[in-house]
Amino acid sequence: MPILTKIRKPVEKEMAQFEAYFAKTMRSEIPLLNIILNYILRRKGKQMRPLLVFLTAKLNGEISEPTYLAATFIELLHTASLVHDDVVDNADERRGALSINALWNAKIAVLVGDYMLSKGMLISVENNRFDMLEIVSEAVKSMSEGELLQLQKSRKMNLKEEDYFRIIISKTAALISACTACGARSVTDNPDTIQLMKELGENIGIAFQIKDDLLDYEGTGLTGKTTGNDIRERKLTLPLIYALEQAPASRKRHALAIVKKRKKTKSEITEVIKFVAEYGGMDYAETKMKQYLDKSLAILDTYPDSDVKESLKTFVNYTASRRK
Ligand code: IPE
Ligand code: IPE
Ligand code: MG
Ligand code: MG
Repeated sequence: MPILTKIRKPVEKEMAQFEAYFAKTMRSEIPLLNIILNYILRRKGKQMRPLLVFLTAKLNGEISEPTYLAATFIELLHTASLVHDDVVDNADERRGALSINALWNAKIAVLVGDYMLSKGMLISVENNRFDMLEIVSEAVKSMSEGELLQLQKSRKMNLKEEDYFRIIISKTAALISACTACGARSVTDNPDTIQLMKELGENIGIAFQIKDDLLDYEGTGLTGKTTGNDIRERKLTLPLIYALEQAPASRKRHALAIVKKRKKTKSEITEVIKFVAEYGGMDYAETKMKQYLDKSLAILDTYPDSDVKESLKTFVNYTASRRK
């Protein structure tokens, strides 16, 4: 059985219902908007965030209406953030197809992203779940801050490991931690439980982004995104940050000179990837990622054994082993 199918098992029915609910919210009266929303719907992602909402809800109680609301709301915001992120990152590929900015243009991508974002906010307001609106709005604010901090730091090319962690906590872990917090919030109002689940999500989220950054170097051919786009876009991520610290001055200068170039050839990008591997950048990022996964597993082990707990543990391990 594919690993994602195995992880989904305890919440299989709920995920199917969620998909229907999600598709319903992705409709509009405006023909152009409808075409684009359909285009996005046909290429769904891994749906890790809704999955996490359902699993953490079930870990802490009975899945109910607000759990679906949170899952839909969060997947809408996530999808909106990807559409915007591809504009920011000049990325032409997403989920194995052309990105919205590549197929249409950046103006349209910004507006479609805004539409999904507001649609997400609206469904929580319509259902009077201001508690969830608060959790997720915090995350969205954080995501914008993270992306802006990344742009600011990248421009100067002096990103330190500490900055990197600040960036990924804001741009990625915040939303994943909102998933686990909302999952818990949908079934309990115990603040300690919600806090613990928030921490779980933050640790998973940090590991998730380190893996995403590794995948950008690994080039499994399965991510549906262009390999090496981070280097192309002068984005310094953990493997490169570490390699730059380890390499002797002359090698470092040479690698940085390539990264700084506005236009790079394929072979220059390959050269940087090799440089990173040579100075242990990938291994280091791998080790760091595992530390966060261990923290996540330790949190899960405070719960008694169940199929949901098992699924969540598999989810955590999948974060590290995934090839897409
Ligand atoms: C991509 O997220 C953006 C990051 C935070 C790394 P996913 O890898 O979950 O994207 P989809 O939804 O599966 O396409
Ligand atoms: C995560 O960073 C983006 C968001 C939080 C939206 P990336 O820029 O690395 O994500 P991908 O690789 O484009 O999916
Ligand atoms: Mg990107
Ligand atoms: Mg990436």
